[in-house]
Amino acid sequence: MATFNNFVLQLMLTITLILLAEAAKDRRAIPSEEEQKELERQLKAINKSAIKSFKTEQGEIYDCIDIHKQLAFDHHLLKDHNIQMKPTSVPKWITSKNISQKVDPLQLLPRGISCPDGTVIVKRTTMQDLLNVQHLKSIGFNSYRHGHTEGNNIDLTGHHFATVDYKYSTVSGVKGNINLWDLQVSQDQVSLATMAIAGGPIENLASISVGWMVNPLLYQDHVHLYTYWTADGYQKTGCYDIRCPGFVQVSKRIPLGVLLKPVSIYNGTQYQMELSLHQDRATGDWWFIFGGVNVGYWPKSLFIASGLAKGTDKASWGGQVYSPLTKKSPFMGSGHFPNEGFGKAAFINGIEIIDGKGEALIPQIYTIKTHKSSPNCYKAKFIHDDDDPWIRAVFYGGPGGCTGQLLSEESQGLKNLDKL
Ligand SMILES: *[C@@H]1O[C@H](CO)[C@@H](O)[C@H](O)[C@H]1NC(C)=O
Ligand SMILES: *[C@@H]1O[C@H](CO)[C@@H](O)[C@H](O)[C@H]1NC(C)=O
Ligand SMILES: *[C@@H]1O[C@H](CO)[C@@H](O)[C@H](O)[C@H]1NC(C)=O
Repeated sequence: MATFNNFVLQLMLTITLILLAEAAKDRRAIPSEEEQKELERQLKAINKSAIKSFKTEQGEIYDCIDIHKQLAFDHHLLKDHNIQMKPTSVPKWITSKNISQKVDPLQLLPRGISCPDGTVIVKRTTMQDLLNVQHLKSIGFNSYRHGHTEGNNIDLTGHHFATVDYKYSTVSGVKGNINLWDLQVSQDQVSLATMAIAGGPIENLASISVGWMVNPLLYQDHVHLYTYWTADGYQKTGCYDIRCPGFVQVSKRIPLGVLLKPVSIYNGTQYQMELSLHQDRATGDWWFIFGGVNVGYWPKSLFIASGLAKGTDKASWGGQVYSPLTKKSPFMGSGHFPNEGFGKAAFINGIEIIDGKGEALIPQIYTIKTHKSSPNCYKAKFIHDDDDPWIRAVFYGGPGGCTGQLLSEESQGLKNLDKL
């Protein structure tokens, strides 16, 4: 009888979760008149007048914006900001051999798109983009949450993580070569590879993430470069790419949100993008560098001291997916488990951090924790070899299909509810 009651309870909760997901969808479909007005106001503010504009075959619009008139400077904390054209110092990363091809960030845009000196390149945001971002937020898809949700009431329904997390001493920079894959996901789903830093109190964690994302809501189809930041757990501050003031773009060649190519082939050529985030020792700004090219930075003044203004102590590398419970969860990484190894499983290699003294170091195994929220569907494996710095990597991913296992998978959480 107890088992039967348990089953009924689980079923009811499942139905409730599905209804909640449906309700979230409805909210997206019909924004209230007030919300609509607010979004129009936001869009008008985001859309800076362009010196030149380009439209790609995919229908994406790129604008060349006067570097001093970019959206970042609408931020109240950046009114008197002195723009930095490049970092005052770049950390000396430990060089390691490359066993796969690097994506050249300067070859990403279609030929013929070129912005004049004194401008930066920005992907045009549309009303639909803003509506979609709101929807993502409503389903809890935001920020760096995974390793730090214990004892929190954060709803992670439908989210799955497979990462390696560093939490040991001060971090003032992170680097990783993120292996690139293109995947199929359905309209409401997300699959991403990320390198992230986070700091501050758990209720309003400051974080910056960079990597690739497949998500029709934010990026239509295929795999795109993504960045995300928040100074307060995504309550009042932060956004993806340049959908809100904050990130100061300096590159006129590499727009945030750009389509990434070429992608890796299963059991064939592997491509990776070399990304780093580091805090400039002189200014405290967090620089984002892609394949040796300065893309831009998040100014120190966006963050409080316990957030990211004075370094941080949390970093992570790996994959994340989201799916509404009505669908099977998508591929993560290449869609294959880590044990298949190089060429088949997705990886992030060349994992390094910059410590509090500004020195590059390779995280020791005892400073790394592997985090797998749904190990039946997605796994992560940290590999290390003291003789070969290349071999500081996370292999991560899996074929998904988790949502179909909701009843068994979530049963632990439901048992806890049972006790209430
Ligand atoms: C955004 O600005 C461009 C010119 O830079 C203009 O053509 C377009 O209509 C504007 N869109 C909105 C929604 O304001
Ligand atoms: C490693 O990188 C160098 C320079 O970027 C390139 O010439 C070489 O082909 C790469 N090797 C492999 C195995 O990808
Ligand atoms: C991978 O490629 C090798 C050499 O090209 C081939 O012999 C092997 O059968 C392939 N394996 C799979 C699983 O496709």
